[in-house]
Amino acid sequence: MGVEIRLIEQDDQDVARWWEARSIGYLGPPTAGAHDVAYMHEILDFARTWGAFEDGRCVMSYRSFDHEVTAPGGALVPSSAVSAVTVSPTHRRRGLLTRMIEPDLRRAKDAGMPMASLIAAEYPIYGRYGFGPAAWLTDFRVDTLRAMRHGAPPGPEDGGRTVLVDAERVRKEGPQLHERLRRQHHGFVTRPEGWWRKLTGDYRPSGTTWQEPYYVLHLAADGSVDGLAAYTAVEAWKDGMADGDLHVRDLLAATPAAERSLWHYLCSVDWVTRVHAPSRAPDDLLPLLVGDARAAVTTACTDHLWLRPLDVPAMLTARAYPAAGRLVLDVRDEAGLAQGRFLLEAGPDGASCAPTPLGADLTVPVSALGSLYLGDESAVRLAALGRLDEERPGAAAAADTLLRASRRAWCPDIF
Ligand SMILES: CC(C)(COP(=O)(O)OP(=O)(O)OC[C@H]1O[C@@H](n2cnc3c(N)ncnc32)[C@H](O)[C@@H]1OP(=O)(O)O)[C@@H](O)C(=O)NCCC(=O)NCCS
Repeated sequence: MGVEIRLIEQDDQDVARWWEARSIGYLGPPTAGAHDVAYMHEILDFARTWGAFEDGRCVMSYRSFDHEVTAPGGALVPSSAVSAVTVSPTHRRRGLLTRMIEPDLRRAKDAGMPMASLIAAEYPIYGRYGFGPAAWLTDFRVDTLRAMRHGAPPGPEDGGRTVLVDAERVRKEGPQLHERLRRQHHGFVTRPEGWWRKLTGDYRPSGTTWQEPYYVLHLAADGSVDGLAAYTAVEAWKDGMADGDLHVRDLLAATPAAERSLWHYLCSVDWVTRVHAPSRAPDDLLPLLVGDARAAVTTACTDHLWLRPLDVPAMLTARAYPAAGRLVLDVRDEAGLAQGRFLLEAGPDGASCAPTPLGADLTVPVSALGSLYLGDESAVRLAALGRLDEERPGAAAAADTLLRASRRAWCPDIF
C-alpha cells in the first residue's frame, strides 16, 4: 500500500498520530499525552495541517499558517509560515518533503502571500525550495565576574526599576510588550498565545523537563512595562565558592535603558558565575553593556529565519529603504513562482516595484533575494560567492546601499 498524503482529521486519534510523527522526527517521546492532543486542537489550522499515512500510521507531519514578518522599517508583512516538518526515519529520503512543500508553496502563492517563512533545523534542507537564510542568531555565554569586575559602564538610564512577577502577569504583559517590540525589530514574527503558555508552563509538551522560571519586568519611571526577562538558575558550588549557571529563556526590551538594566540585573545575580543567553541578535548590545565586552563569548552563530519570495513587488514595496535608488532585478525561480524582471525604485519616502523590459542590474536566484530581503546579507558577498550575478559593474554595491539595514535582523522565536 502506498503512502497517502492528506489533511489530518479534527479527531483525537488523527491528531495523536500526527503529534507522534512530529515528535519522533524531533527526537521526542513516541506517544502523545492527552494534554498534547488537547493543545494541538487549540493551535492547529485543520485546513493546512497535513500528514502522510501508511498502514494507519502517520509517517510525516507538515503544517503551514499565516503570520507576519517584520520588514526593515517596521511593516508587518504577511507570510506563509511552514512548520512541524518531519518525515519518520522509516520514510526519509523518498521525496515526501518535496511532495508536501512544493504544492503548499504554490497554494500560498495563489492565495496572494508575498513570501513564505520557516526556521530551518539544518542548513542544507530548504535552499532547493527557494528559501534563503535571512536572519541569524547568536548564543552568548557571559563570565559574570569578569563582565562586572570594574562595575557597570555608563549607559542609557530611564529612572526605571526591575520587579519580580508571577507567570500570570507575564501572560498579561508579555504579549503587549512583544506587540510593541515587533514593530521596532525587523525579523520579528507574530508570537502566538501558545508561545507564552509554553514559556510560563501552562502547556508542558510531553518529554520536556520543566523548571519554573523567574520572571522579571522592567518598569519605566512612569510604571509602564518596557522590558521582560525570564530565566532559570542552577545552584552549584566549587571549592567552597558559588559557581552557578543562569539560563535566559527570553529577554525583550523596548528601550536601550530597559535592555541595559535587564542585562545588568542578570549579570549581577548573586551565586551566578555564568549567564547563558541563547537566541540573541548577532549585534545584540549585551557585550558592550557590560564592563568587559570579551566576557560575553559568542558560543554559536547560526542561520535561523529563512524566507522564500513568492510575490516580488509585494515584498519589496512593503519594506523601507534608507537611501534613494533604482535597481533592475532579474529574479530566477526554477519553481516558476516568483520569477521575472522587476524595476525597484525606492527611497526614504516609499518604493515602487513592477515588471520591466529594462536590462537587469543583477540576476538573482529567488533564494538569494530571500537572504537579501531583511537587509542582513550583502549582495557584494553573494556576488563573490557566485550566488548572484552582476550584469552591470558596481550593481551589487549599489544594491547594498539600497537594501542593507543599520541593525541586524533578529527573529528570537521558533515557530
Ligand atoms: C528534513 C526532513 C523533513 C527531510 O524529509 P525527506 O522526505 O527525507 O526529504 P526528501 O526526500 O523530500 O528530500 C528532498 C531532497 O532534500 C535532501 N535533504 C532532505 N533532508 C536533508 C537534510 N537534512 N540534509 C541535507 N539534505 C537533505 C534530500 O537528500 C533530497 O535531495 P535530492 O533531491 O538531491 O535527492 C527529514 O529528514 C526529517 O524529518 N528530519 C528530522 C526533522 C527535521 O529536521 N525537520 C525539519 C525541521 S525545519
